[in-house]
Amino acid sequence: MSCMLLLLLCLCLLVNHVVSDPRTKEAAFICATNNTASVQDRQTLVENFLAAMDVLTPVIAGRRYAASVNGTGNTTVYAFGECMKDLSQSDCNLCFAQSKIQLIRCLPFQRGTRAGRLFLDGCYIRYDDYNFFSESLSAQDKIVCANSTFGGNQTVWKANVMELVRNLSVQAPKNDGFFVGSVNQRNITVYGLAQCWEVLNGTACEKCLSDALTEIDSCASKEEGRVMNAGCYLRFSPQKFYDNSTSDSGTGNGGNRRLAIILSVVSAVLALLITSAAVLFFVRKKVLKKRREKKQLGALLSTVNKSKLNYSYEVLERATNYFHSSNKLGQGGSGSVYKGVLSDGKAVAIKRLFFNTTQWVDHFFNEVNLISDISHKNLVKLLGCSITGPESLLVYEYVPNQSLHDYFFGAKKNQPLRWELRYKIILGTAEGLAYLHEESKLRIIHRDIKLSNILLEEDFTPKIADFGLARLFPEDKTHISTAIAGTLGYMAPEYVVHGKLTEKADVYSFGVAVIEVVSGKRNNAFSENSPSVLKMVWNLYGTGRLHEVIDPVLEGNYQVEEASRLLQIGLLCAQASAELRPSMSVVVKMLTGNHEILQPTQPPFISSSSAEISPRIPSETYNSLPDSNTHSSGNRMTESLIEPR
Ligand SMILES: *[C@@H]1O[C@H](CO)[C@@H](O)[C@H](O)[C@H]1NC(C)=O
Ligand SMILES: *[C@@H]1O[C@H](CO)[C@@H](O)[C@H](O)[C@H]1NC(C)=O
Ligand SMILES: *[C@@H]1O[C@H](CO)[C@@H](O)[C@H](O)[C@H]1NC(C)=O
Ligand SMILES: *[C@@H]1O[C@H](CO)[C@@H](O)[C@H](O)[C@H]1NC(C)=O
Ligand SMILES: *[C@@H]1O[C@H](CO)[C@@H](O)[C@H](O)[C@H]1NC(C)=O
Ligand SMILES: *[C@@H]1O[C@H](CO)[C@@H](O)[C@H](O)[C@H]1NC(C)=O
Ligand SMILES: *[C@@H]1O[C@H](CO)[C@@H](O)[C@H](O)[C@H]1NC(C)=O
Ligand SMILES: *[C@@H]1O[C@H](CO)[C@@H](O)[C@H](O)[C@H]1NC(C)=O
Ligand SMILES: *[C@@H]1O[C@H](CO)[C@@H](O)[C@H](O)[C@H]1NC(C)=O
Repeated sequence: MSCMLLLLLCLCLLVNHVVSDPRTKEAAFICATNNTASVQDRQTLVENFLAAMDVLTPVIAGRRYAASVNGTGNTTVYAFGECMKDLSQSDCNLCFAQSKIQLIRCLPFQRGTRAGRLFLDGCYIRYDDYNFFSESLSAQDKIVCANSTFGGNQTVWKANVMELVRNLSVQAPKNDGFFVGSVNQRNITVYGLAQCWEVLNGTACEKCLSDALTEIDSCASKEEGRVMNAGCYLRFSPQKFYDNSTSDSGTGNGGNRRLAIILSVVSAVLALLITSAAVLFFVRKKVLKKRREKKQLGALLSTVNKSKLNYSYEVLERATNYFHSSNKLGQGGSGSVYKGVLSDGKAVAIKRLFFNTTQWVDHFFNEVNLISDISHKNLVKLLGCSITGPESLLVYEYVPNQSLHDYFFGAKKNQPLRWELRYKIILGTAEGLAYLHEESKLRIIHRDIKLSNILLEEDFTPKIADFGLARLFPEDKTHISTAIAGTLGYMAPEYVVHGKLTEKADVYSFGVAVIEVVSGKRNNAFSENSPSVLKMVWNLYGTGRLHEVIDPVLEGNYQVEEASRLLQIGLLCAQASAELRPSMSVVVKMLTGNHEILQPTQPPFISSSSAEISPRIPSETYNSLPDSNTHSSGNRMTESLIEPR
C-alpha cells in the first residue's frame, strides 16, 4: 500500500513539474505614440497609470485576469492583464509581474506615448486611453512569424497547421475562450493554443479568432506563428509549449487515452483508500509547497525562515486589513505604502513593491539584511521583509507625522512650518545623507531624495525614507520607476542624461529640496511653461536679491541672512557639474557654521554657456523631459532584468 502511495506521490510531483514555466519570453511589444498629450497632462497620466496597474496585481493573483480604470477626462487610463489559462497560478503571478516591469518601457512618460501592449508567451498586459476591454480587433494587431520555414515536408506541415488553427478557432469560443491541441499527420506534429481574453463575449471571441485564422495563412509555412489581436492570442509551434496536464481540453489523439487510464486507476485507488488519500493529499500539498519555496529560495530558505527579518505575508496582510485603501499612506515609484499594526500593537509601514523580487530573492534578502543594520536618528529603519508571498513587501519603522511634502504641497499645506523647524529639518536631512554617503559601512546613494521621502517625527525630527532601494534592486532597475514617479525635478542632470549615479546626484536632489523648503515653491519638472524655481532663485542670486524668494507664508518670521545662506547652499548643491557640488559632510559643516559657505559658480540647469559638462548634452534646461533617445539606457536596464528561463 505504501508503495502505491509513493507511486501516486511521484505521479503528482511529475504532473506538477510540467506546470512550472511562466513563459516570460516576449512575443510582441506594441507601443503606440500619440503626440497630442500635453505636457501638463503627463504627470497625471503617469499617476493614473501607476494607480491602474496597482489594482491589477492582487486581482490577477485571485482570478488570473483583471481590468481597471483610473483617472477622469482625457487622462483616464484603462488597464488590462490576463494569463494564458494553462499557466498555474504561481506562474501566472510571475509572468504578470514581469510583464508589468517590461510595460514600463512604454509609459505615458515619453513624448506622446499613451498606449502600450505587451504579449509574453504566458500572459498579456495592455493599457490605453480609451475603453478597449471588449475590443476584438484593432489597427495595432500584430502577426509574428518565425523567420525560418519549417524544415520537413512543407505540404504536410502547412496542412497540419491549417487544420489545427481551424480547430482551435472553432473550439475556443465554445470552451470558455480557451483551447489547446495538436495535429499529428504523416509523422509531423504541430501544437497550438488559442485564447480570447476573459472580458470578451462569445461572438467577439469568434470574430477575433476567425480573423486570426485568416491572418495565420501567411505564417503557415514557417516554423512558428503567433497572431496577437486586441481580443485574442493564437500560436502554433512544432514544440509542445503549453501545458494541458491540468485541463482536459486537448484535441490530441492517443495520449489522452493513456492519461485517462492512469487517472481512472488512480481514482479507483483513491476510492478504496479514502482515509489514506486524505493523509496523502496533506503530504503532497506540503511537499509541493516546500518544493516551490525551495525552488524560489534555494538554500536561502532556512536562513530566511529563521531570520527575525522575515515577516509572513499573511501576518502583514492582516496587519494592513488586507491592504485596505484606508490604510494607504502613499504611492511611490517602487510601490505603495500602507500602515500596518502588528499583533503586538506595534505600528509599521509596509511597502508593497511594484516589482516582483522572486528572480533575485537571495540578493534581495542579503541587502535587506545589510540595510536593516543601518541605524541613524535621521533615517527610517528597515525592519524586515516578506519574500515568500505573492508580492514582495518591505517593513519599515512607522513615522507618525507624515512627510515634508504634505506640509508644503499636500494635506497639511495649511499648517506651514515655522522657520526653526525648517532649519532643523534641513540640517537633520543633511546629517542623515552624510551618514549614508560617508559614515555607514555600506556607502549608500539614496537616489530619490525629495520632500515626500523626508518623513517627520512628532517633534519634527526628519527621517529619510526609502534609502537603499537602489541596492535592493540589482544594477539600475529602479531608474525608470523613479523617474516616472514624478521626481524628475530632483534628478541631477548627469543622472537624467547619462544615467551616471554618484553621491553627488543625492547632493543635487538635496539642493533642490532645500530651495523648495525655504521658498515654499515646488520645482515642477513637468511644466515646461512655468519658470523653474531653481532658475528663478539662480537669477535672484545673480542680482543679490535672494530674500525675495523666501516663503511669504512665514510673514517675515525668519532671519533674512540665515535664509539667504540656506538658499546659497541649495544653489551650491544643485550646480550642474557634479564636481562643483560639495560633499554632504561639508554641507553639514556649512549649516552648522563650521565651514565657509562657498559661492555657487554654475546654474542648476544646463545652459549653452555651461555645455562644458559634455558636448552630448543638448542645450536644454535640466528640467525638460528626456526624450526617447536619452532614455534608451534606461530601456536596456529594464530589459536586462528579464532573464529568459
Ligand atoms: C490621439 O489621441 C487623441 C485623444 O485621445 C485621439 O482623438 C486621436 O485619435 C489619437 N490619435 C492617434 C493617431 O491615435
Ligand atoms: C485612482 O487611483 C487613486 C490612487 O490609488 C485613487 O485614490 C482614486 O480613487 C482612483 N480613481 C479612480 C477613478 O478609480
Ligand atoms: C485635456 O486636458 C487638458 C488639461 O486638463 C486640457 O487643457 C485639454 O484641453 C484637454 N484636451 C482635450 C482634447 O480634451
Ligand atoms: C458582444 O460584445 C460585442 C462587442 O462589445 C457587442 O457588440 C455585442 O453586442 C456583444 N454580444 C452579446 C451577445 O452580448
Ligand atoms: C527575424 O529576422 C529579423 C530581421 O532579420 C530579426 O530582426 C528578428 O530578430 C528575427 N526573428 C527571429 C525570431 O529570429
Ligand atoms: C510531402 O508529403 C506529401 C504527402 O505525403 C508527398 O506527396 C510529397 O511528395 C512530400 N514532399 C516531399 C518534398 O517530400
Ligand atoms: C479538427 O476538426 C475536424 C473537423 O471537426 C476533425 O475531423 C478533426 O479530427 C479535428 N482535428 C483534431 C486534431 O482534433
Ligand atoms: C517519423 O519521425 C521520426 C522522428 O522525426 C523518425 O525517426 C521516423 O523515422 C519517422 N517515421 C516515418 C514513418 O517517417
Ligand atoms: C496534452 O497534449 C498532448 C499533445 O497534444 C497529448 O498527447 C496529451 O494527451 C494531452 N494531455 C491531456 C491531459 O490532455
